[in-house]
Amino acid sequence: MSEENYVNAEFWDGKYREQDSLWSGKPNGTLVAEATGLPPGQALDVGCGEGADARWLAEKGWQVTAIDVSQVALERAAAHGGENIAWVRTDLAVSAPPAASFDLVSAHYFPIRSESAVRGLLAAVAPGGTLLFVGHDFDGAMEHHAHNGEQGPDPREFYQPSEVAALLGDDWKIVVDETRERAHVPEGNPHHRDTVLRAQRLR
Ligand SMILES: C[S@@+](CC[C@H](N)C(=O)[O-])C[C@H]1O[C@@H](n2cnc3c(N)ncnc32)[C@H](O)[C@@H]1O
Repeated sequence: MSEENYVNAEFWDGKYREQDSLWSGKPNGTLVAEATGLPPGQALDVGCGEGADARWLAEKGWQVTAIDVSQVALERAAAHGGENIAWVRTDLAVSAPPAASFDLVSAHYFPIRSESAVRGLLAAVAPGGTLLFVGHDFDGAMEHHAHNGEQGPDPREFYQPSEVAALLGDDWKIVVDETRERAHVPEGNPHHRDTVLRAQRLR
């Protein structure tokens, strides 16, 4: 398998098939912290996985489009139910979401290396809307990656929130650009700190 293929649907479908549930089933703490208080509208959950963030957003009144490249993840997510959520299989490295369409674009731990794909996510935020792009702080956690012989490319190669921030021009206001303790660290998970970018599209 080429390195590029580590981040395609086959890779992710395989990862989801390895376990009945890959993630905690709880919404990400950063999403809860940053989206609480935003007026609900259209939300895009980027790389939604098993759907906990999408379900939380829908419960808070958002109309959610939840995208993932893995059909296995999407079927699992849909099986949990949840109203006002469209589960959509899309490879965001290949196809961009609709432009200027979402009041919130939320991406948590989304592995993407293509600048044009990141720009597609930025373009999907409607004027006035919010981008929330959250990654792992790799200090210490990379040791775990190496010791456990984890396969795949170095995760630091994926776009990090600070690199996404550097792509934002005058049309954006950066609200949060920081590293912070992760609210709920799933058992055994080496990633204890989040890197958080929250920005508002002004026009
Ligand atoms: C690390 S998981 C995070 C899942 C979820 N956001 C969470 O926080 O629990 C990354 C997710 O992105 C999806 N993904 C990876 N590359 C993708 C792509 N090119 N297009 C769409 N989804 C992708 C994977 O299938 C996986 O579900």
